This record gives sequence, C-alpha cells and structure tokens, in this order.
Amino acid sequence: MQVVSLDLTNFRNYQTLHLDPGPGLNVFVGENAQGKSNLLESLYILATTKSTRASRDAELIRQGTGLCRLQAQVNRTTDLDVKMELAISLVEKKQARVNGVKHTRMSEVIGKVNAVLFDLGDLEIVRGEPSNRRRFLDLEISQTSPRYVHALAAYRKTLEQRNHLLRDIRDRRAGPHGGETVGVWDVQLATHGAALMDGRRAFIDRLGQLASETHKAISDCRDELVITYQPSFAIDAIGDVEEIKREFLTRIDQVHHEERARGTTLIGPQRDDVQMLVNGADSRLFGSQGQQRTIAVALKFAERQLIEELIGEPPLLLLDDVLSDLDDLRRGHLFEFIGKAGSQTFLSCVSVRSFPPDILERASVWRVSKGLVTRQPE
Ligand SMILES: Nc1ncnc2c1ncn2[C@@H]1O[C@H](COP(=O)(O)OP(=O)(O)OP(=O)(O)O)[C@@H](O)[C@H]1O
Ligand SMILES: [Mg+2]
Repeated sequence: MQVVSLDLTNFRNYQTLHLDPGPGLNVFVGENAQGKSNLLESLYILATTKSTRASRDAELIRQGTGLCRLQAQVNRTTDLDVKMELAISLVEKKQARVNGVKHTRMSEVIGKVNAVLFDLGDLEIVRGEPSNRRRFLDLEISQTSPRYVHALAAYRKTLEQRNHLLRDIRDRRAGPHGGETVGVWDVQLATHGAALMDGRRAFIDRLGQLASETHKAISDCRDELVITYQPSFAIDAIGDVEEIKREFLTRIDQVHHEERARGTTLIGPQRDDVQMLVNGADSRLFGSQGQQRTIAVALKFAERQLIEELIGEPPLLLLDDVLSDLDDLRRGHLFEFIGKAGSQTFLSCVSVRSFPPDILERASVWRVSKGLVTRQPE
C-alpha cells in the first residue's frame, strides 16, 4: 500500500501541508521540535483514527484553531484505492470519510489503511512494567482476532466484578453468602481467561520467531533473542483451550484462602508477562539501550510481517527516531531490512550524515522545519 498524497490542515504545528511521498523510503530530517514526529503521527491516525501520543484528540488541533483535517490518497494492490479523510474538531464528534462516504463510527474505517508505527513509547514494551507488554499483546492480537476482542472484554468485566467481591470479603463488607458468590464467577473467569491465554501463546510463538530472525539480522548475528510467554501458571504441556480452562479452575481453587485474605484475583492473564532474553539474559534488566531498541524494532518488523501475511500487501511502516542508540553496523542492517521488507516507509531523524550513500540516493529525502516540508535537494 502506498500513500501518494498527504494533506494536513491545522494539525499539530502544520498550518497546511501537501506532500507527495515517494514509493519506497521517505526520510524526514530536521532539528528537534520541527514536526517530524507529528507528520508520522498524522499517517498513523489516518490508519487507526487514534494517536498513541495524545491523550485527547483536542491536542491534535493546531493551537488557536478549532478544527483539523487530515487527508491521504492511498493506493492498494489487494483492495480498492482509498481516499481517507478525518476531521477532528473541538466541538463536534470526530468524522471520517472513506472515498467520500461519511462515517462517525471509527470502527468502520479502521483497517482501510494499515500502518505499523515504531516510536519511543515502544521501548517501554521492552524495558517497562509487565502491563506494557500485556497492553502490546492485547492491541496487536485484537487487530486480527475478533474472538480475542470479545474474550478480552468479557474477561475484564468478570475480573472486575470478582475483585470487587473479593475486596468486600477481605474488608468484611460482603454478606453471609459472599464467599460462595465468588465461585459463580470462576467458570466465566476461566473460560475467557483460557481463551486469552491460548491467543497470547499462539501470537507470541509466531511473533517471537519472526522477531528473533529480524533481531539476528540487525545485530549482525551477534545477539540471539528468545521471546517466551510467561503466564501466571505454566501451560507448556497443555494442548488445547479446554484443558487450559480446567487447569485454570484447579489453580484458582488452590488459592482460595489467599484470594479472600488479599482481596484480589491471583490467577489469570492480568498477571501475564513476556520474557525477552538476549543471549540468555533478561533484556529488561541487563539489556543495553541499543539492545533494547533493537528488540523493540524487531518486534515492530515482526508485526509488519504478520500484517502483510494477513492482508496480502505490505502495510505502511512509520519509524520515528528509530536510529538513535544504534551503532553504524546495526543501522546498516536496519536499512537493508527496510529495503527488503517492501513497505513504503516513513523515517524521521535529526541527521542523514551517517546514512549509507546508496540508501540516500534511492530515498526521497525531506527537510522538516517549523511545520514546512521541502524536498531535498531543493
Ligand atoms: N496542537 C498543537 N498546536 C501547535 N503546535 C503543536 C501542537 N502540538 C504540538 N505542537 C508543536 O509541534 C512541535 C513538536 O513537533 P514534533 O514532535 O513533530 O517534533 P520533532 O520534529 O519530532 O522533534 P524531535 O526531533 O525532538 O523528536 C513542538 O514545537 C510543539 O509545540
Ligand atoms: Mg520527534
């Protein structure tokens, strides 16, 4: 899929922008705070309708104005070409148009354009708390599995109600039958919990394999990445989802007293983690900055590959500030990888000095300065 034109009006620090990106690698170079990340963000929003950086849509609207518009013409090979338009206003609901047809339900427009974004926040998947890794799993698996979306919503609801009751029991606020009522939630908890665990296991198996391959290539075969699922109880020897459910119920029974004393659910996907070992050492604790960034990038390339397999054409690849912390060797391999991946790529950086000349020659290079973007050399 290829963005052939991008138009922004009053988006972030862009008053108006018109850009005709090149088909392969597009490099956006500029000093800090000029609008490089904003530009990549706009493409991500056109694909997903949401930003990963803004907590409220209002932040996206250029200060002093009340309405921003984003528009892209995206040519696809496996589907109809898409003209995607988004209008975000301070007073009205967000509105999208796909090939001129209005949508106010954002779920209807997600997936018309597909993009994978790497930004600094993604480093938290590697070095942050387990909740960061769970959020990553949920986000990625949800994109391709409606079953998972359903299980996730049902599990969260059940967990909340069960925890509420357990807290009441701990604090002696539950009635005389409170203890028995907890059990009513157990089967639901185990059913949806097992579905999530099964989904996460399968996803990590596939993603881990792809990420390891990328990781090996970028690190010049020096680092071996092994990604494993770490659920709250082991399921390695368990084949199917029904068996996981039975094991779930057994385990929950074993912590019966402890759960009531502590007032919370002690078993289940809310306690999952993903372990990332580089050469046998936990990268969260022992990884260097460059190693951690390499893993985060490898995860994104793996995700890119998975999406391509699913939709049958390469999604857009948005790489924000991906090069810092990487040595020249890793950068070189990363460029090779970008070339091989075949996605139209948007990459931001503060300087192109260390770029391999042949890469620069083939790329479209753009200078970003105070919300203006100009093709280099002019
Ligand atoms: N809603 C908004 N209205 C006006 N300006 C905004 C808005 N949101 C962000 N900005 C401005 O955009 C600029 C930051 O842009 P961006 O994050 O794209 O920088 P960058 O070029 O990626 O810089 P760096 O190299 O530091 O990552 C800041 O000057 C910020 O004040
Ligand atoms: Mg930036």
